[in-house]
Amino acid sequence: MSTEILKNKKILITGGAGFIGSNLIEKFVYQNNEIICLDNFITGKKENIIEFSDLPNFKLIEGDIRDIETCRNAVKGVDIVLHQAALGSVPRSVKDPITTNAINISGFLNVIQASVEANIKRFIYATSSSVYGDSKELPKVEEKTGKPLSPYAITKYVNELYADIFAKLYGIETIGLRYFNVFGKKQSPEGEYAAVFPKFIKLLINHESPVIFGDGKQTRDFCYIDNAVIANELAATTENKEAINQVFNIAFGETNNLNELTFQLISYLSEFDTEIAKIKPLYKDERPGDIKHSLASIEKAKKLLNYNPEFDVHNGLKKAIGWYYENLR
Ligand SMILES: NC(=O)c1ccc[n+]([C@@H]2O[C@H](COP(=O)([O-])OP(=O)(O)OC[C@H]3O[C@@H](n4cnc5c(N)ncnc54)[C@H](O)[C@@H]3O)[C@@H](O)[C@H]2O)c1
Repeated sequence: MSTEILKNKKILITGGAGFIGSNLIEKFVYQNNEIICLDNFITGKKENIIEFSDLPNFKLIEGDIRDIETCRNAVKGVDIVLHQAALGSVPRSVKDPITTNAINISGFLNVIQASVEANIKRFIYATSSSVYGDSKELPKVEEKTGKPLSPYAITKYVNELYADIFAKLYGIETIGLRYFNVFGKKQSPEGEYAAVFPKFIKLLINHESPVIFGDGKQTRDFCYIDNAVIANELAATTENKEAINQVFNIAFGETNNLNELTFQLISYLSEFDTEIAKIKPLYKDERPGDIKHSLASIEKAKKLLNYNPEFDVHNGLKKAIGWYYENLR
């Protein structure tokens, strides 16, 4: 499903130098939109946005969402906010809940408050599958969340509560996108908090074993980045009133276990380097706060946003593997 429906708008993308944000910019900047990217580069990278820097319809504001004046400046004249800035990673939030809370809750509040003050019509924001917490129910349906299992999950849940109350009190149109394990180009492999695919791929390219926490039978619903970008485009443009002030699972809607996916990565990368075929994963103890199984129902997004994701994990990996191989060496 390829769309070019978001055009001729002024769009603020917070966290635009990050993985998802920079992919949003890449699509929307070439559809005749004016893009403002607000980022403090805490995890984002200049190289993710360097290709846009000379475009007349792209502007970077290097600043922090923890500062409300920065947010007020960034939202000036904007039609739509795509709020992606946050400190991701469950384990990082377990180690440093204070910074996670400051950015993900106070920072969120600054961006949405500034958006209300500036009369912005629509505020789309990134929430997370982590809000399902200890709920055992599968597939995950939007209305049935559990208790959060990490500070990170609490911050995303609080974002949803704030978005809901801001919509009710001040009339701003909000849509929350609960991303499930997004992957693809421009995803950082760096540091202990990197997501599983880029981390594993980087290790494999260097002929090292990827480490699986637990028995590898944990399952995830991996979502290729292009699906998440389209979800933002649909949310930003929908005229369906029932979709406003809602949260939606953004995933592919299929589950895969980590063992199978690791062996698949090994097989794809072996086509670039035959030595990789000999590598076996290492297994270590489970990490606190990690969720065992995750599978999304995407029926609500299908029905209300017309979201029909094109790429399953295998097709997504096939598209992304060349980028990963070239950029993570
Ligand atoms: N990648 C996923 O699988 C996934 C899953 C669920 C939810 N999310 C959410 O999606 C959003 C984007 O995630 P991502 O994977 O692109 O992460 P990322 O770390 O690549 O991007 C986040 C961006 O936000 C910026 N940022 C962080 N704190 C900031 C601050 N105080 N002021 C300004 N900018 C700041 C970072 O520098 C970075 O560029 C986040 O809100 C994340 O919680 C991501």
